[in-house]
Amino acid sequence: MILAAGQGTRMKSRLPKVLHRIAGRPMVEYALRSARSVNPATVTLVVGHQADAVRAQLANHEGLQFAVQQPQLGTAHALQQAEPVLAGRSGTLILLSGDVPLLSSATLQRLLQTHTAANAAATVVTAMVDRPYGYGRIVRAGGHLARIVEERDASPTERAIKEINSGIYAFDLAPLWESLRSIASKNAQGEFYLTDLVAIYHRRKLPVETLVLESVHETRGINSRSELAEVSKIVRQTKNEELMAAGVTIIDPGTTYIEQDVIVGADTVIHPGVILEGHTRIGAACEIHANVRIVDSEVADHVTINNFCLIVGTRVADGASVGPFAHLRPDTVVGEGARIGNFVELKKTTLGRGSKANHLSYLGDATIGANVNVGAGTITCNYDGERKHPTTIEDGAFIGSDSQLIAPVKVGKGAYVAAGSSITEDVPPGALGIARGRQTNVEGWVDRKKTVKT
Ligand code: UD1
Ligand code: CA
Repeated sequence: MILAAGQGTRMKSRLPKVLHRIAGRPMVEYALRSARSVNPATVTLVVGHQADAVRAQLANHEGLQFAVQQPQLGTAHALQQAEPVLAGRSGTLILLSGDVPLLSSATLQRLLQTHTAANAAATVVTAMVDRPYGYGRIVRAGGHLARIVEERDASPTERAIKEINSGIYAFDLAPLWESLRSIASKNAQGEFYLTDLVAIYHRRKLPVETLVLESVHETRGINSRSELAEVSKIVRQTKNEELMAAGVTIIDPGTTYIEQDVIVGADTVIHPGVILEGHTRIGAACEIHANVRIVDSEVADHVTINNFCLIVGTRVADGASVGPFAHLRPDTVVGEGARIGNFVELKKTTLGRGSKANHLSYLGDATIGANVNVGAGTITCNYDGERKHPTTIEDGAFIGSDSQLIAPVKVGKGAYVAAGSSITEDVPPGALGIARGRQTNVEGWVDRKKTVKT
């Protein structure tokens, strides 16, 4: 069970807290992944605040059940809403919190073991932390967990306790539902606190266990934007460490932002300020220079991406080179060994093997063959104000600088376009297309002009 019905007031956001992203992935996805890692019989998410938005975000999670908590009256009340979903079931319920994303599968396994071995009614995952502020504190009596007190309800002595409640538990289902009903809302927030269950069990002499964690990261909860940033940093660091361990050079991990699903091959060098997002895949022995952002793109091996490029939804083949200052937009393919230079924009365009567009171009809706030279300042005029039209440039063609190709138009194999041409009609293979005003030199013009003036 994962609790994710709260608004997350402290985030001061229109977006539900659990949908805020950590390294590209909604917070709640992390809890879901931890949950799935122990192969539970069922996984249920308690939703409430903006339930539809949360559901929609998780639509691709097969077999995920939802329970709705409306209104949100506290964590105990949230868990109660799941009773109908689990009615008639016995065994162990693991409860996770949608805002505690770093929990490892190994810890959940240990929780299950501790809980089962002790034959406990409840087992609470706790941690010793230096900054317990904001968490529920673990109050022990004779070494045993006696109760959990929330920050706002705690006395100064209790606030000094450094053992905190992670909000992660294992419960024996048998006494659970009935006991939840005896929780009251007499506390600073007027909410039904799940943490009160511990005192109730203690009084009834039902065995309550703890699993005390050493790694303090795992229990980090997110209540504020500041905590979101702190946890995101940990997630990024972990990803960078994994990549470096697998043979990727990251010059400055502190300024390198690589999202969770990104793959990078060995011997690739990543310079400072690089951002790799979504389902991006970078091959081996590439060099990604500083301040490049790549989103949902595939980059093959031995590719160089020079400084300050934005690359989205693009495939770049082996040995190609891009940038500096290039913008590659969705559905672009850069062929093997092709070169894209500075201030070049490609959209829905294929640039064939060994072709070059080295300076100042816009190439949109274009299919460009192999070994084509696209001169500086070339523009495909693909838009007539209503519709987009295609441009085709066949193998080996040469487009002179500062030409406009007014689509739909085709430049045949090996053809030339003279510099400064506005090409409105197809250029046949092997031909020269020249479309510009002829130059006239007016002899003696300057001298005559001077004579008139004086
Ligand atoms: C809770 C615990 C606290 C623990 C901390 C760990 C209680 C009373 N307190 O405090 O002891 O140290 O987590 O991170 O349980 N939720 C609902 N419905 C509600 C209220 C909350 O689904 O009515 C969900 C939230 O969406 C969130 C989770 O429960 O995912 C925890 O709620 P939150 O308000 O963040 O509790 P904390 O104050 O952090
Ligand atoms: Ca919380």
